[in-house]
Amino acid sequence: MTEKSNEGLIPSVDGATTRLGGSPVASENHSVTSGEQGGNILNDFQLIEKLAHFDRERIPERVVHAKGSGAFGELHITEDVTKYTKAALFQPGTVTPMLARFSTVAGEQGSPDLWRDVRGFSLKFYTTEGNYDIVGNNTPVFFIRDGIKFPDFIHSQKRLPGSGLRDADMQWDFWTRTPESAHQVTYLMGDRGIPKGFRHMDGFGSHTYQWINEAGEPVWVKYHFKTQQGWEYFTNEESAAISNADYSRQDLYEAIERGDFPRWDVKVQIMPIADAEDYRWNPFDLTKTWSQKDYPLIPVGYFELNQNPRNFFAQIEQAAFSPSNLVPGVGFSPDKMLQARGFSYPDTQRYRLGANFEQLPVNRPVCPVNSYAQDGAATHQFNDADQPVYSPNRHSRAAGYLDDGTSSASGVTYGPATDLYVNPDPHGRDLMRAAYVHHRDDDDFIQAGILVREVLDDAARERLANNIADAMDGVSDQVELQVYEYFNRVDGWLGNRVREIFTARK
Ligand code: HEM
Repeated sequence: MTEKSNEGLIPSVDGATTRLGGSPVASENHSVTSGEQGGNILNDFQLIEKLAHFDRERIPERVVHAKGSGAFGELHITEDVTKYTKAALFQPGTVTPMLARFSTVAGEQGSPDLWRDVRGFSLKFYTTEGNYDIVGNNTPVFFIRDGIKFPDFIHSQKRLPGSGLRDADMQWDFWTRTPESAHQVTYLMGDRGIPKGFRHMDGFGSHTYQWINEAGEPVWVKYHFKTQQGWEYFTNEESAAISNADYSRQDLYEAIERGDFPRWDVKVQIMPIADAEDYRWNPFDLTKTWSQKDYPLIPVGYFELNQNPRNFFAQIEQAAFSPSNLVPGVGFSPDKMLQARGFSYPDTQRYRLGANFEQLPVNRPVCPVNSYAQDGAATHQFNDADQPVYSPNRHSRAAGYLDDGTSSASGVTYGPATDLYVNPDPHGRDLMRAAYVHHRDDDDFIQAGILVREVLDDAARERLANNIADAMDGVSDQVELQVYEYFNRVDGWLGNRVREIFTARK
């Protein structure tokens, strides 16, 4: 059994039920009234707690892909792709625990699984270097190629604001005025529009991503997940004859319960960076595929789903997949859709699940988290009290791996942001982590020095030195010296004067 699926599980206990605070409950069946026929009382805490919690059981459903099902499993790497990526999860022989969630796009929770629609294909890998999510579909392309159109597209596929009904006119109006949708609409209207349950469909990462090897060399990559169950579909007539709205959910669940674990082969297409510029289709355009004649499928391994969720709400409804969950050795690409998605997913999840959604067991990475983020609703994990809560700091707690660890390094340029992607784009500019461009007289201390020497008079300078010394009350010996050095760089007189005043008071 996958360990992840047990996280958060409350051990079964005997005896009387308890309130959420643990104290025993007198009755689950009779509320307290004032006399046998009197009104309910405000002090019947169990009645109030039980109803109040029930009243809050629902959370907002996903704005898209609301109806879905999932399971835990493992990714197995059987081939050697180390010349393309250094990512820990893709190293030969590696087995990585994972969660998959499959969905329809436009339907709400409870809507029929067999409506004609694209199917979502979300994978979360709990790797030793953090969570890596591939959030794709059962088609290799998409309806649009710029994220700014996504809300319009989804509005046209969901329900009319007035009647609350789906509307063919609105759907086709959008598609036909959006010519880039033709490839995906053709897929959708074909057999892929109604797969015979989730086990019998292929999956795709769809976007172009980047892989980066140990030497820092990038390639472009597309993911393909090939069902080992055989690719099968329903016709319109067949699906209309099935009244079970949960057909795909039930099929997946029951297969896993009977030990018939579904598997998908993991394959990739690799495009050398140099090919991208002149390939006959823009390789970053999500409405296009790369021909498999040009870039054949390369086997990587397979994944198997072998553990049903132990609790649907905790582990599937609260699962938060995002294309922004990347690991070293995997990068983004100039695909505008992908870049828009990187913002949208964690944003909606902060709304749908709360600011601390990554602390939920199903979303929590299996590697340690070392972050300066703190507080917020439903904080569950926290750092030791002796840990500083800011960076840079005088303690041993680190900063980012590019930082020098001792200062905010203003003025230092770290170079291209190759952790997002190595960008050899001849049309654009590299993504950078760059300092402000320095002009002739730029320096962090120069204007503060002018303020002290040329704007303040003697009395104001003296008050300033005293105010600084006052504000230093309580600093450690180390920070005391840091403050003298800091103000010495502003103005020699000021640094010395602060030292005089502060040391005289000690
Ligand atoms: C810029 C375009 C897009 C935007 C803004 C967008 C936005 C969203 C949002 C807000 C969610 C709900 C997430 C949640 O509540 O946890 C979602 C779910 C999802 N999206 Fe997108 N999406 C976009 C394009 C795509 C594309 C191109 C694909 C596939 C190639 C895709 C596949 C999915 C899947 C599979 C889910 C369900 C995730 C799950 O299982 O929890 N989306 N999308």
